[in-house]
Amino acid sequence: MSNATKPVAVIGTGRMGGAIGGRLAELGHSVVFGSRSPDSEETNALVQKIGNGASATSPSEAAAAADILVYAVPWAGAEEAASSIGSISGKTIIDVTNALSFGAHGLMEMASDTSSGENIQKWFPDCVVVKAFNTVGFHVIANPAAAGGPVSVPIVGDDDTSKVAVAELVQTFGFETVDVGPLVHARALEMMSMIYIVPYLQGRKEDAFEFYLRRGAAPKVSEGVRAAG
Ligand SMILES: NC(=O)c1ccc[n+]([C@@H]2O[C@H](COP(=O)([O-])OP(=O)(O)OC[C@H]3O[C@@H](n4cnc5c(N)ncnc54)[C@H](OP(=O)(O)O)[C@@H]3O)[C@@H](O)[C@H]2O)c1
Repeated sequence: MSNATKPVAVIGTGRMGGAIGGRLAELGHSVVFGSRSPDSEETNALVQKIGNGASATSPSEAAAAADILVYAVPWAGAEEAASSIGSISGKTIIDVTNALSFGAHGLMEMASDTSSGENIQKWFPDCVVVKAFNTVGFHVIANPAAAGGPVSVPIVGDDDTSKVAVAELVQTFGFETVDVGPLVHARALEMMSMIYIVPYLQGRKEDAFEFYLRRGAAPKVSEGVRAAG
């Protein structure tokens, strides 16, 4: 889906931005990071490590240069990142974020009444948001073989054409994809990420898991979904 003449903008130079930017560059895409500090030592080190012509600039310049943005910032900074990008239109935003915050008992809780994905769509009404990668650890994105088996990336979005294009891109990383419907289902995907994080929060890294969603298990003839109660 990447236009050969246009880079993919990766907003955020942290774990997810670094892993996704690195894989995109390996796969032959031109990558421009949108960073709050594009000239810092850390950002320079990341760009050098990735090589393949990767570069860094401000979020607004990176977004302006690209047709595809990867939104890889923490929920706490997601709205501020949108302001720093400014007004953009006609772009596909691959949203990897989760609207989570630390709650009681040292676990996570949803930090939005809806989802990060829906909020990002609201902040960029003239772009198409497709949620992907939010249930996959950055280390598995960097190296899918680290999971020791296939990994599914559930994808949601309201525009089918963009969703298919993002799914094809995700598959080139070495993942299976599952279309989980419209963007409102970002709520379910962000909840999934909450479960994914539990072993890390509890210091049980040996129990950490990846999602693998198997198709074909449902009865061939369905009587439909019954309402609860
Ligand atoms: N870590 C994972 O394995 C994982 C997996 C699935 C989903 N996610 C989701 O992906 C998103 C990014 O996670 P991450 O682990 O990559 O986070 P991270 O390592 O903390 O990096 C986030 C990056 O976002 C940028 N940023 C912009 N505004 C910010 C702000 N106000 N505060 C802090 N950083 C800000 C920073 O880059 P600049 O300084 O260059 O601007 C920073 O390096 C989160 O929403 C997370 O829930 C993470």
